[in-house]
Amino acid sequence: MARRKKIYEGKAKILYEGPEPGTIVQYFKDDATAFNAEKRQVIEGKGVLNNRLSEFFMTGLNAIGVPTHFIKRLNMREQLVRAVEIIPLEIVVRNVAAGSLAKRLGMEEGADLPRPIVEYYYKDDKLGDPLVTEEHIAAFGWASQADMDDMVALALRVNDYLSGLMYGVGIKLVDFKIEVGRVYDGDFQRLIVADEISPDSCRLWDMETGKKLDKDVFRRDLGNLADAYTEVAQRLGVMPKQATQMGKPRLIN
Ligand SMILES: Nc1ncnc2c1ncn2[C@@H]1O[C@H](COP(=O)(O)OP(=O)(O)OP(=O)(O)O)[C@@H](O)[C@H]1O
Ligand SMILES: [Mg+2]
Repeated sequence: MARRKKIYEGKAKILYEGPEPGTIVQYFKDDATAFNAEKRQVIEGKGVLNNRLSEFFMTGLNAIGVPTHFIKRLNMREQLVRAVEIIPLEIVVRNVAAGSLAKRLGMEEGADLPRPIVEYYYKDDKLGDPLVTEEHIAAFGWASQADMDDMVALALRVNDYLSGLMYGVGIKLVDFKIEVGRVYDGDFQRLIVADEISPDSCRLWDMETGKKLDKDVFRRDLGNLADAYTEVAQRLGVMPKQATQMGKPRLIN
């Protein structure tokens, strides 16, 4: 068997060359990292859950006409995606004050924001992914003004879709981040949603109790991360609520 070509290994995923030009296989690892990888742990099952959940969200987005890189899931840990030129930005949408926004502006975590707020962070681990404005993005040529308009439109559509989906299962979508990438179709080029959408990249709070069901469980040592992600998957119907009980082997005759 020929070895696959590894293109990139990140903190949460490995990228392999796909079976056809312009495709990539994304392998979801069990590694959890936070605070720019200062804190790390292997959480058994996380990769499987994120692979499934990202498939679920991206399939739904594709179906309502929000373009994503997702093509199909290959197995428990891998999915086939369209190769893109990643824009070096994380696009964050916030509905409720939390995390760095709450800290930066001295707001209480949990305060509803007057409207969804879109922010850009420059993807650079050495710098700790700093907040940047459209001025920086245009001046340094990371994306054009038209790209930024498209990125904001994509991010807000993802927000509408995802917050509705979560609301339906009693979960508040506090905030999330997406990455987008450029694809070329002949004379045309456009931006599509890439990377992953999973509880690693969202803040999800139970609407009744406020219980956290996202990576903050790991960041803040609030319990078992895989249990939290399993709960999200079960509520969304992505994983069965009751795992079928394996009976003891029975002797026949
Ligand atoms: N469709 C795609 N085509 C090309 N690259 C992609 C695609 N989707 C995601 N990526 C990139 O693949 C990598 C996924 O790996 P991972 O999420 O583990 O990275 P990371 O450790 O978070 O590092 P990074 O700072 O590069 O995001 C990211 O760099 C992401 O930008
Ligand atoms: Mg990443």
